[in-house]
Amino acid sequence: MDMTALYRISYGMYIVGAMDGQRPVGCVINTCMQITAEPVTLAISVNKDNYTHAVIEKTGLFGISVLSEQTPAPVVSVFGFRSSKEYDKYSVCSHELVQGVPIVQDNTCAGFVCRVKGSHDMGTHTVFFAEVVDAVQGKDLPPMTYEYYHKVIKGKAPAKAPTYQKEVKENQPVSTPSNYVCTVCGYVHEGSLENEPSDYVCPVCGVPKSKFRPA
Ligand SMILES: Cc1cc2nc3c(=O)[nH]c(=O)nc-3n(C[C@H](O)[C@H](O)[C@H](O)COP(=O)(O)O)c2cc1C
Repeated sequence: MDMTALYRISYGMYIVGAMDGQRPVGCVINTCMQITAEPVTLAISVNKDNYTHAVIEKTGLFGISVLSEQTPAPVVSVFGFRSSKEYDKYSVCSHELVQGVPIVQDNTCAGFVCRVKGSHDMGTHTVFFAEVVDAVQGKDLPPMTYEYYHKVIKGKAPAKAPTYQKEVKENQPVSTPSNYVCTVCGYVHEGSLENEPSDYVCPVCGVPKSKFRPA
């Protein structure tokens, strides 16, 4: 089976958000699709270990922010690699509450308010089916695709993403000890960090050198 064939499946990039009491929480997902027109229903796949999962289960309500190509990379990294359990992710972007769910404002193309109608247990993930109860237009910008995120932003997907695949470079060991990996977003710095200036920051998520570990 050639697993690289899976790279040919297209996705968009989204932030799914929900309210944990008075606190907005959320995470990046690429698995969001419209599955029926009447009523307008979306399906999303969320890892059970994600903090956002528990909040969606509890409240039955979530917001989808459609990210654009102009969405700042640190917003994607913070929402895609950190957990709302220990970090206030909405401090890195502006957001608006639309019918009680958070919608990210920084160059977002569109927002949807979704009420959970059902779910399916898929082992590691739950697939939520939700009716769209409100929809708002955002900035008139091209939506970010999963391919754009990988190829242009050079972003990675963590193991919790349903579409995660381990990267193996041909003719190279899986990890080269002289490389350094950002512990926040997974960006790999090829070679030592010694020659980088002391104020070097991760080009993807902006954290300092101290957040890097040998790969
Ligand atoms: C490009 C990308 C795509 C992702 N897609 C999904 C997804 O479809 N479903 C999912 O559960 N997690 C996905 N993730 C992982 C979550 O965003 C990540 O586990 C996040 O840290 C969870 O945050 P939380 O604990 O605050 O919910 C993705 C991450 C990235 C960077």
